[in-house]
Amino acid sequence: MDFKAILCSALSAASGLDEDQLGGMIETPPNPEIGDLALPCFKLAKTFRKAPPAIAAELKEKLGEVEGFSRIEAVGGYLNFFTDKSAFARSVISRVLREGDKYGSSDEGAGRNVCVEYSSINIAKPFGIHHITTTVLGNSLKRIYDHLGFHTISINHLGDWGTQFGKMIVAYNLWGDREKIENGNSMRELVALYVKFHEEAEKHPELNDEARAAFHRIEMHEPADWALFQWFKEVTLKDVAKVYDLLGITFDSYNGESFYEDKMPAIIKELADKGISKVDKGMTIVDLSEYDMPPCIILKSDGSTIYATRDIAAAKYRKETYDFYKSLYVVAYQQNLHFRQFFKVLELMGYEWAKDCVHVNFGMISMEDMTFSTRKGNAIYLEDVLNTAIEKTLHIIEEKSPNLENKEEVARQVGVGALVFSVLYNNRIKDYTFSWEKSLNFEGETGPYAQYTYARACSVLRKAKEAAGTGIAMIDYSVLSDESSAALLRAIDTLPEAIRQAAEKYEPYLISRKVIEICSCFNKFYYDNRIMDDDAAVRAARLALTDAARTAIRVGLFLVGLEAPERM
Ligand code: ARG
Repeated sequence: MDFKAILCSALSAASGLDEDQLGGMIETPPNPEIGDLALPCFKLAKTFRKAPPAIAAELKEKLGEVEGFSRIEAVGGYLNFFTDKSAFARSVISRVLREGDKYGSSDEGAGRNVCVEYSSINIAKPFGIHHITTTVLGNSLKRIYDHLGFHTISINHLGDWGTQFGKMIVAYNLWGDREKIENGNSMRELVALYVKFHEEAEKHPELNDEARAAFHRIEMHEPADWALFQWFKEVTLKDVAKVYDLLGITFDSYNGESFYEDKMPAIIKELADKGISKVDKGMTIVDLSEYDMPPCIILKSDGSTIYATRDIAAAKYRKETYDFYKSLYVVAYQQNLHFRQFFKVLELMGYEWAKDCVHVNFGMISMEDMTFSTRKGNAIYLEDVLNTAIEKTLHIIEEKSPNLENKEEVARQVGVGALVFSVLYNNRIKDYTFSWEKSLNFEGETGPYAQYTYARACSVLRKAKEAAGTGIAMIDYSVLSDESSAALLRAIDTLPEAIRQAAEKYEPYLISRKVIEICSCFNKFYYDNRIMDDDAAVRAARLALTDAARTAIRVGLFLVGLEAPERM
C-alpha cells in the first residue's frame, strides 16, 4: 500500500501544489510515535508567505479525513500522519495472498527483451569456484527481470575458440582415451590432457607447431578435426550440466566464441569502411587513446581474430537477433577494460544501442579453508564445492532432524542454497571470502536460516489447516497493530521495491537482505504472539500474516536462486 502516494494526492488537492513536489518534501519521522509520515511545513513558508505552524494547521483543516490514515496532527511546523494499521495490514496481506508467487511482479518490462550473459565457461578448462559468482548472479538477474515482465534471453558465451583447441587435438591424438573421457569426469579428463600438452611441449617445442597446424585445420573445418572439436564441446557441456542442474540453471543459448567466427569478416570490413580501424605494425587496431584507453586489437599480425573482435560481433548479433532493450554481461571486474574498450568501439561504429550494453562486474571470491589457486591442475571445481556443501548439510540435518523424510533432497536444496545465498548477500563488487561455517549456519544471515524460517511458517500453517473457517472475510486485521506484527508487515510490503531496486542496480543482495529482514521479523512475530489464539478472528489474522510472510520469503528466495523446502 503506497501511503505516500495516497497522501501526496490528498495534499495536492488540499494545497494546489504539485504531487511530485510534495513527494520530495514528505519525510519519515525518526520515531513512529511522532507519526509514520510527516510534512515539514517550513518548506512551504515561502510559497504561502505564512508561518509554518499556521500552514500546518490550515492544511490539516482542509485535508479532513484521508483514506488509509487514522490520525493527522499539526505539531509546531509539522503535519504528522499516522497510517491506519488495520487498513495497512489488510492491504499488504491481501495483495501477497492474491499475487502468490507473482508477488512483487509487474509488467513494466512487457514487450522488452533483455539479454543476460553469464557463466560463460571455457571448454577444456576447469569450471571452477571462480565461476560461481557469474553463474549465480546472472541467474538471479534473469529471474528478477523475468519477474518484472521482461523477456530474458540467457546466454552462455562459451570460450570455445582459440589456439588451445589445436593443442587439445594434438594432445588427444597422442594420449587421449575416448572412453575415459566419455564415461568419466569429461572436463577433468580434457583439462588433464591440456596440462599434459604443456608439460610435454616444454620438452618438445615442435608440439606447438603441430598445435598451430591443428587449429588451422579446425578453422578450415577439416572433417576429422572439426568433429573432434565439436565432441570436446559436447562432452564438456554434458559434464557441466551436472552443476547447472544442481543450481537449477538453464540457458536459452550456448552460442560461444566459435559461433561468431564466420561473422568476423563482415565486422572487420565494417570497421575499415567506417574508417574506425587502422593497421599498426601489422595488426588491425582501433585507436582509443582519445578515450584514455589502450588500442582495441581487432586482428593480430598473423591475421587471426581475438576475444574482443568476437565480442563486437556477438553484441551486434544479439542486437539484430533479440532487439534487446538491455544486454547484460555478468563478468568479473578483471575485464573492466575489455568491456570499456569494445563498448566504445560499438559506439564509434555508430551504434546508439552501445549505451544499452552493461558490464555487470563483480569481485573475486576466495575460499577460507582451501588455498585458492588457478595454477595448472590446482583448480577448485565448482562441482566439488557444491557436493561438499550438500554433504556437510546432510550431516547437520541428520543431527537436527533425524526423522525428516527425503533428507538427501533437502540437503541438496539447503547446501546449494547456502552457497548461492552467501555469494549473493553482499554488494557484488566486493571481494569475498567464502566460509563454510558462516554460510551453513542455521542462525546467521544465511540461506539455511531463511529456508528454516520458511519451513517453520509452512509448519505453522500445516498444523492450523484443520482449524476450519479461517477465510479472509473474518480476519480481524486490527490485531496486527502490535510492534512485531507491524514490523513484519512493513518488511513484506517493501519486498517489491527491493526487487525493483535490485533490477535497476543489478544487485540481488538487495533482495537477499530483504528476505533476511522478513525472516527475522517473522521469527520475532512468532515468539511474541500466540498464533493459534482461541479467538478465531485473531487466529485468522495471525495465520494470514504467517501465510503472507511465507509467500514473500519463497518469492525472495526464488529470485536469488534458492529453492524453499517445506520441511526441514
Ligand atoms: N569465457 C570468459 C572467461 O571465463 C568469459 C567470457 C565473458 N563474456 C564475454 N562476452 N566476453 O573468462
